[in-house]
Amino acid sequence: MIVRVEPAVVSELDSIADLAARTFPLACPPGLPREAVDSFIAQHLSPVALGSHLDTPGHELLTARAPGGDIVGYALLLDGTEMDPTCAGQILHRPTVGVSKLYVDPRHHGSGVAVLVLDEITRRCSGRGVRSLWLATNVANVRARRFYDKQGFAERGVRTFDVGGVSNTDVVYEKDLGATAPVSD
Ligand SMILES: CC(C)(COP(=O)(O)OP(=O)(O)OC[C@H]1O[C@@H](n2cnc3c(N)ncnc32)[C@H](O)[C@@H]1OP(=O)(O)O)[C@@H](O)C(=O)NCCC(=O)NCCS
Repeated sequence: MIVRVEPAVVSELDSIADLAARTFPLACPPGLPREAVDSFIAQHLSPVALGSHLDTPGHELLTARAPGGDIVGYALLLDGTEMDPTCAGQILHRPTVGVSKLYVDPRHHGSGVAVLVLDEITRRCSGRGVRSLWLATNVANVRARRFYDKQGFAERGVRTFDVGGVSNTDVVYEKDLGATAPVSD
């Protein structure tokens, strides 16, 4: 299926938040208490919380729309290492952009939608001189890890990520978008 990946607009926030609430649990490890997951969703994935990215410089919220108009995926990009400054030392290339969120409706997993979203992220970032993408995903999120491996991301290390007061271990990945020299900062 071909999807249109474009910057999100205010009128889409309720639909994005609905998709986010349905898909965030899929990225969580099996033992994580539901209350912790719900707390994270309430704090970070409400329409208001998602909408705050629309007018924040360096933040880019994208939606993937199916031909019928349904939002079937979304992504959130954060310039640099703002997503988690503690990971800065693991990220080899600059300028870099953090893929804070990349979520596809489970009805479209395995369909190529996620690849199209990532391709559009890459196209947009490469077009403005970004040298790498980086992200972090739970160590137990085998589907996402397999996906990022296939898409050319390399493991850089781990980080600790708080979900509703519970510490989780994420694997940190980076994808080099071009023939670039590593930086030393
Ligand atoms: C991560 C995500 C965007 C990837 O999109 P996708 O359409 O599912 O990805 P693909 O199907 O192309 O690739 C997933 C791979 O994992 C494999 N896989 C699925 N379940 C698996 C499992 N339990 N163990 C190992 N591999 C698994 C699939 O077979 C596929 O590999 P293959 O193409 O070699 O067969 C999507 O799964 C998603 O939105 N997941 C929920 C939210 C999430 O985890 N987001 C990432 C947070 S950082």
